[in-house]
Amino acid sequence: MASLTSELLTRSPECITKTLHMPDGQPFDFRLLLEDDGPLIGKYFESLGDDTRSKFGPHPLDMATGHALCTELDYTKFLRMIAVHRDTAIAYFILILDVRPGERNRYESYGITLVDGQDCIVAPSVADEYQNRGLGSVLMLRILDIVASLGFTRILLSGGTRATNLRAVHFYEKFGLREVGRFETSCDNIDMIRQL
Ligand SMILES: CC(C)(COP(=O)(O)OP(=O)(O)OC[C@H]1O[C@@H](n2cnc3c(N)ncnc32)[C@H](O)[C@@H]1OP(=O)(O)O)[C@@H](O)C(=O)NCCC(=O)NCCS
Repeated sequence: MASLTSELLTRSPECITKTLHMPDGQPFDFRLLLEDDGPLIGKYFESLGDDTRSKFGPHPLDMATGHALCTELDYTKFLRMIAVHRDTAIAYFILILDVRPGERNRYESYGITLVDGQDCIVAPSVADEYQNRGLGSVLMLRILDIVASLGFTRILLSGGTRATNLRAVHFYEKFGLREVGRFETSCDNIDMIRQL
């Protein structure tokens, strides 16, 4: 039974804000993106280097997109979560709450039927200088908590992950996601899913 709803998030987006800590003790707030966050998230996008951009590209990563995303927030479709330390965004995780045709068709080809309201999709990113310091792991635990509270029963990756992105593959396996299939784009990609 869901204890959290999109309607509640729309009324009170701050209800899921939580102060968390990196393994080294550094505190940060993990919260939903809000309509005034354009400059904050735009700056985050612009800070990302080529390596991160080659692995994480859900939309253009520039200031204009940061502003645009904040004017079209719809917590029934996307939960865009940011980790903020001293007025700087240090991570950005997207949760997609409805199944998109790309994922639906690929999973169908693996014999898995994705269901709206049961399956949600995650796309994580951590600021370059914060990667590999345990931040993503702290956030992923919180994300799993949130999606379970929303009543989802499975979580899968947005567009899979590059097979060569060994850190991401390890990261997802650590949180119980398992490979269910591969597909080619300009590179080899792995689809991974976890039952909640
Ligand atoms: C993937 C990402 C979200 C993970 O967040 P993070 O904060 O760096 O992750 P953490 O530090 O919590 O955990 C990284 C884990 O990978 C491991 N790791 C690091 N490099 C690795 C490698 N080359 N091969 C295998 N494992 C590796 C670390 O040891 C750690 O595992 P552990 O907790 O079992 O020790 C982040 O690195 C990122 O944003 N990367 C660039 C964008 C990206 O790849 N997004 C995902 C697209 S599918």
